[in-house]
Amino acid sequence: MKPINVGLLGIGTVGGGTFTVLSRNAEEIARRAGRPILITVVADKNVELAKTVTKGACRITDDAFAVVRDPEVDIVVELIGGCGVAKDLVLEAIRNGKHVVTANKALLAHHGNEIFAEAQKMRVIVAFEAAVAGGIPIIKAVREGLTANRIEWIAGIINGTTNFILSEMRDKGLSFDTVLKEAQRLGYAEADPTFDIEGVDAAHKITILSAIAFGTPMQFDKAHIEGISTLQALDIKYAEQLGYRIKLLGITRRTPDGIELRVHPTLIPSKRLIANVEGAMNAVLVQADAVGSTLYYGKGAGAEPTASAVIADLVDVTRVHTADPENRVPHLAFQPDQLVNLPILPMDKVESSYYLRMRVWDEPGVLADITRVLADEKISIDAVIQKEPGEGEDEADLVLLTHRTREKLINESIARLEKLPVVVGKVTRLRMEGLGK
Ligand code: HSE
Repeated sequence: MKPINVGLLGIGTVGGGTFTVLSRNAEEIARRAGRPILITVVADKNVELAKTVTKGACRITDDAFAVVRDPEVDIVVELIGGCGVAKDLVLEAIRNGKHVVTANKALLAHHGNEIFAEAQKMRVIVAFEAAVAGGIPIIKAVREGLTANRIEWIAGIINGTTNFILSEMRDKGLSFDTVLKEAQRLGYAEADPTFDIEGVDAAHKITILSAIAFGTPMQFDKAHIEGISTLQALDIKYAEQLGYRIKLLGITRRTPDGIELRVHPTLIPSKRLIANVEGAMNAVLVQADAVGSTLYYGKGAGAEPTASAVIADLVDVTRVHTADPENRVPHLAFQPDQLVNLPILPMDKVESSYYLRMRVWDEPGVLADITRVLADEKISIDAVIQKEPGEGEDEADLVLLTHRTREKLINESIARLEKLPVVVGKVTRLRMEGLGK
């Protein structure tokens, strides 16, 4: 049968993996897709690299715009990344009637609304399984597998670099800075790891998951984002002593007042399966009304795991591109005219449990002073540990876990606690999620 022709933009790690897997499993993939899927042209600024990877199997060019306008190309795979030229190329491909497969989470989180509107107009598909959690088919699962459900919340470890760093900090008791250098040496973290460690990459991904879970447009600009760069090894240790692990979670939850959309380090009970996801692995936990909770685990990055998702999209597009657009799975899971612009809840209104650590004088009445502040705000305490002062010290670490409360109340309490003479310096505040039903 006549092959479907693919133009590949970018032959770096994921592009190279896509080329390799598509060649290696060509026969198996064609049996599934119903026809061969052929990369006929590759565009990359590094033409020599492209030649080395493709070994003469297809055309090479450094002009990506020629590819998206090429009448012979049916599907454009965009693996350049970022919101610069990638955006122009994706829009140009759509306007030229090409279906697009992309792994570009930043592009979709920032410009997805414009891109999907354009795709809708041009009656083409924009597929993006590889944009969230690499090889884990989480887009497919949420958009199609769970389609009977009212989704309640999603919580995911969706950045492998930070999960690797947190695992190493916990295992070896090392500081963030030391582990980050190790992660860079091993090639896990980018030379500029800002997007990973400051939570931006995870925020891109949870923005996409939130949109397909609740049928809303992308609302990245309203996401609350905190990374792990100021997290202290001490808090990881105390959390562990209390039966918790700290993970960088992307969380999105439906509440009566709006949608929560947030990324931050989070204490989760060690007994939860997701708490035991270690190293660079990813996992996404979805709570939905009919099925209950489901957990998806796997590699969130890397050449072949991400290629696995890219190629799954290529097969999907190959199978359904001739169907009427009205009969295809909608881009954001819900029919485009059924998207609802639900508000994103401001953090002040978000409810969570909290871990508070403070340095306090070691003398009678201190605990009473502190608990009075929390009682005044109607915040209930779940657990307290006070560490013995070190040799010759007259201050000790006090750690409190609270029951669920509004973030506004905890922030007001912290402001009051920091004014108490018995509390020395700042209070460290981390959010906690039970992740049960
Ligand atoms: N930088 C990402 C991570 C992988 O560390 O998980 C690509 O999304």
